[in-house]
Amino acid sequence: MSLVADDHETAQGRSGSGRDLRLTAVTKSYGTFTAVKSLDLVVPEGSFFALLGPSGCGKTTTLRMVAGLDVPTSGTIALGDREITYDKPYKRPVNTVFQNYALFPHLSIAENVAFGLKRRGVKDTKAKVAEMLELVELGEQGAKKPFQLSGGQQQRVALARALINNPEVLLLDEPLGALDLKLRRGMQIELKRIQTEVGLTFVHVTHDQEEAMTMADTVAVMNAGVIEQMGAPEALYDNPESTFVANFLGQSNLLAGDILGPDGDVVKVSIQGTTVSIPSDRSHADGTRGWVGIRPEKVMIAEVGGEIDAPGNRFEGGVVSDVSFVGVSTQYLVRMPWGQELMVFEQNTGRRPIFAVGTPVDLSWRPEYAFLLDASQDASAGVEDGDD
Ligand SMILES: Nc1ncnc2c1ncn2[C@@H]1O[C@H](COP(=O)(O)OP(=O)(O)O)[C@@H](O)[C@H]1O
Ligand SMILES: [Mg+2]
Repeated sequence: MSLVADDHETAQGRSGSGRDLRLTAVTKSYGTFTAVKSLDLVVPEGSFFALLGPSGCGKTTTLRMVAGLDVPTSGTIALGDREITYDKPYKRPVNTVFQNYALFPHLSIAENVAFGLKRRGVKDTKAKVAEMLELVELGEQGAKKPFQLSGGQQQRVALARALINNPEVLLLDEPLGALDLKLRRGMQIELKRIQTEVGLTFVHVTHDQEEAMTMADTVAVMNAGVIEQMGAPEALYDNPESTFVANFLGQSNLLAGDILGPDGDVVKVSIQGTTVSIPSDRSHADGTRGWVGIRPEKVMIAEVGGEIDAPGNRFEGGVVSDVSFVGVSTQYLVRMPWGQELMVFEQNTGRRPIFAVGTPVDLSWRPEYAFLLDASQDASAGVEDGDD
């Protein structure tokens, strides 16, 4: 919805979609290097929006322009009907929480949280501070100093300190990056709860795909200054449109295939002599060659000639080349006759023993789970190098 009559009447208030954050053709260049390339983005009011991408792809640069800490080289930024592209940071209803939460060490927790209100001349901050500390579940900690709190607690103080200003948009730049994995998972749930409770627009920047998917209503996958794909986490995961998204958001097997052409509501593709079907709405390739993508947990494995519950395509002649037991599942690598190793994640239901390395196996998947990508793209784009 944009400029319909009703909208106009409520534009001064906070109702409806009148306060969406809107980036239009935003570009940021440093000399000859362009960090953000003509970004178009609408973040609906009240949504939890994640900007996901590898280090250096332009996430922080984008946030800094929304916060007013940087000015775009070209393009505009607006909140509802109001353009804020060149407004000073303190003139925008936007607050930011950074990874290094930068609390004032000499102030108490309560004084840290009260800071924004005090600066604006609000005298009686007590009730509001208590409310914010309650919100982040630090009700009893107000008198302590930052160093007496854990990393996760300090991050919650930083959040309370930002939220007390009642911004329309809260920007979070890798806010959980400094926390260890277990704490991070806990804080993800906590952050999501707080966002739902306060109903503000959150723009959360992260390079952690699991973090983006568990928290956000909408995820925008960013790569080298552009947004590759944007949507609900399940939609992105199920139906990626590029090799980068297929690999960066989870893991994918990508098999080279010859595209034979459309057939009703599927596209037929030949992989090493076996013809498979891809639903047309999951086909994102032109031309005669493509990458057939299938997620490792969608691939079924069986002993040679054994039953596989996936009518349609069956690939024979595989040999287990690696087995990792990870408790809930077993992760196999299976070397196929054409030399490629495919990933197979199998739930440990206990129904049958785990296959050992060297075991001959057959693989299969249900056609409706596969997707088809353009052959011109690098099959290893977005594969994480594991140094995270
Ligand atoms: N002030 C600057 N001058 C020159 N290059 C910069 C500056 N700020 C960021 N960059 C470059 O822009 C790119 C994007 O940076 P950044 O937005 O910080 O990435 P991210 O937050 O996704 O890791 C990087 O290549 C970075 O080196
Ligand atoms: Mg960054």
